[in-house]
Amino acid sequence: MGSLLFTPLTLRGVTLKNRIVVSPMCQYSSEDGFANDWHFVHLGTRAVGGAGLIIFEASAVEAIGRISPQDLGIWKDEHVAPLARITRFIHEQGSVAGIQLAHAGRKASTAQPWKGGGPIPPGEKDGWKPVGPSAVAFDAEHTVPEALDEAGLQRVVRAFVEAAERARAAGFRVVELHAAHGYLLHEFLSPLSNQRTDRYGGSFENRIRLTREVVQAVRKRWPEELPLFVRISASDWTEGGWNLDESVALSKLLKQDGADLIDCSSGGAVPGVKIPAGPGYQTHFAERIRKEAGIATGAVGFIRSSFQADHILRTEQADVVILARELLRNPYWPLHAARELHATVAWPPQYERAQD
Ligand SMILES: Cc1cc2nc3c(=O)[nH]c(=O)nc-3n(C[C@H](O)[C@H](O)[C@H](O)COP(=O)(O)O)c2cc1C
Repeated sequence: MGSLLFTPLTLRGVTLKNRIVVSPMCQYSSEDGFANDWHFVHLGTRAVGGAGLIIFEASAVEAIGRISPQDLGIWKDEHVAPLARITRFIHEQGSVAGIQLAHAGRKASTAQPWKGGGPIPPGEKDGWKPVGPSAVAFDAEHTVPEALDEAGLQRVVRAFVEAAERARAAGFRVVELHAAHGYLLHEFLSPLSNQRTDRYGGSFENRIRLTREVVQAVRKRWPEELPLFVRISASDWTEGGWNLDESVALSKLLKQDGADLIDCSSGGAVPGVKIPAGPGYQTHFAERIRKEAGIATGAVGFIRSSFQADHILRTEQADVVILARELLRNPYWPLHAARELHATVAWPPQYERAQD
């Protein structure tokens, strides 16, 4: 039995040594957006652990686009050097460094999860007024956002482009745009949060306009030989919300716009939605988008075992598997998975004796 998990994947000019991707995971551990030793050790360890691609956490393209004041950021040139230190190490380990570029929109200005995660109002220390498609708050506790006008939207598009340029300067080889989980781009996609009456709201074409503008603008400046991913919430899981048919239609267009892979997550647009979370609950999104939009996809959500991961690839539901919590529990998961699947992988020479 040959495993598929440990076969390489080439996207544009970048080859991943295997199909295991570290999902972006906020660490809420930055000061003024800067990467620090926590990020170096956290991300570096996962490179030592053998993942093919490591996507850095949601990194804010502008300061008000942070979920919390402690989010990682890439809105100024000074952010580049500490990020570059980490990408260098990751590449030395034979893994590839990617970064998720993000804007939290109306879900911005909240506390770290371990401090309760609640919204910080604009008047309070470290709080600010978030922006969004419409002056509609996420829930009763969140601040009502300021609806972005055309100038504000142009500023956001520019911020994504400049962030991508900084990502290049920091040595990243993959950029992922965060258009999921109820953050800014998803807020425009979903009719639940987008109540605009201008050319950015209403019809499907209008709601997808901002995401497409960002993808097109980033693609122009992100080097031709480097892949561009987009993470979407393939479904809002609720009546009247963004749905899988729209995700397929959007993915077809994003492919034309130069996206290379759709990372298929779900949910986050509105609170109180029942999501049937569990192993495989999102893989059918990746499968349908892959088949019908003809673009590479990533499957994510409750992927824990090597056999489950290999099965997703073998049944052609996705091109990569993207793991979050399992890789928090066990950064060496890829090395264990290789053993289970009888694949031969190179361990770091410093750790070779662990195979005795
Ligand atoms: C600590 C933590 C932080 C997360 N931060 C992000 C993030 O920055 N961007 C994002 O798109 N998803 C984020 N997620 C969601 C994960 O990337 C992933 O989609 C989700 O946890 C499901 O995968 P899993 O079942 O393997 O954990 C986060 C999840 C966790 C557990």
